[in-house]
Amino acid sequence: MTLINNPAPQNSRIFSVGAYRPERVVPNSEIVDLIDSTDEWIQQRTGIESRHRAAADQSLVDMSVEASIIAIKRAGITVDQIDSIIFATISYPYQAPSAATELAARLGANTAAAWDISAACAGFSYGVGMAADLIRGGTARYVLVVGGEKLSDFTDPTDRATAFIFADGVGAVVIGPSENVGIGPTIWGSDASNRDAITLEPSFLEFKNGKHVSDVGWPNIAQEGQRVFRWAVYEMAPVGRKAIEAAGITPDQLAAFIPHQANERIIDSLVKSMGLPDTVEVARDIRTTGNTSSASIPLAMDRLLAEHPELHGKNALLIGFGAGLVFAAQVVELPPKWS
Ligand code: UT7
Repeated sequence: MTLINNPAPQNSRIFSVGAYRPERVVPNSEIVDLIDSTDEWIQQRTGIESRHRAAADQSLVDMSVEASIIAIKRAGITVDQIDSIIFATISYPYQAPSAATELAARLGANTAAAWDISAACAGFSYGVGMAADLIRGGTARYVLVVGGEKLSDFTDPTDRATAFIFADGVGAVVIGPSENVGIGPTIWGSDASNRDAITLEPSFLEFKNGKHVSDVGWPNIAQEGQRVFRWAVYEMAPVGRKAIEAAGITPDQLAAFIPHQANERIIDSLVKSMGLPDTVEVARDIRTTGNTSSASIPLAMDRLLAEHPELHGKNALLIGFGAGLVFAAQVVELPPKWS
């Protein structure tokens, strides 16, 4: 029998963004000695000048509360209107319950549906796509999408391949119903054949000689930088182009490009190969924020809007890519000005 009460599809848009960057600024000079590197090398190869790192006793959710409160206030709604919380992270140090439920409890959004997603540096764009579809289907009305990391907890300061890259911070957006289409279709996917290019190891389920080893040590991020670099440069431009096309616009109708902040050379290469015109403002938050994985797009969005208030309400292409390897892109209307 056909079911009734299927709600009419509902458009959505981003209402607001909030950001939290930890107080402590860590310049390259504080990192180089342990990895036999130089400030010059790091800046030339990545664009990173400094990054923020959380205090030892400051948790991922402590930071997330700060970013979320700002986003909710700017959206002009109350916490009890948030009916879903999607938390994208790879650095919440518990398997269960989720970071999203800890955040819900701390915010007082105790009845909201709340769950984490593990899509690394694509996590925020995965979350935006899911939120738009939940609202379209009538499952949710106001969704808090959080991208947050405390990667300093999972980075080996002596690892030459990662120590200078990863950093801490949280960005959050409120997504809600809209008359117009404020979030274009999400183009997403994975390349699981490259699953071992970025890993968090060891897992707490390690076996040696067929036996479970309980004391396996603390997990840290490992990455094959060049392999990921090449994949991002060659494979992500077509994904970005598809997202622009799927939104029904042309590149000259974009006002901003807010890619995952992994490496400024990847950003430059994507701008070039997608043929984005000079009129498109490109987010380069990486210079003073480093790579904050799932947090990098909302953090960069927050900064771009602070530096270029004229971009409020304009079209931006978002693209996230990382461990999996996974990717997701969509064109969004940037949030309107808040009071
Ligand atoms: O966020 C998730 C997605 N992640 C990414 O998108 C990361 C993508 N990858 C990258 O951003 C870059 O590959 C890195 C920034 C990680 C590394 O840059 P690279 O240009 O790929 O460096 P490389 O590994 O090709 O090494 C080039 C040279 C080598 O020396 P020789 O053989 O040319 O003499 C390395 O030994 O740089 C040397 N090197 C370093 N030198 C100083 C490698 N690491 C360092 C270091 N400091 N930390």
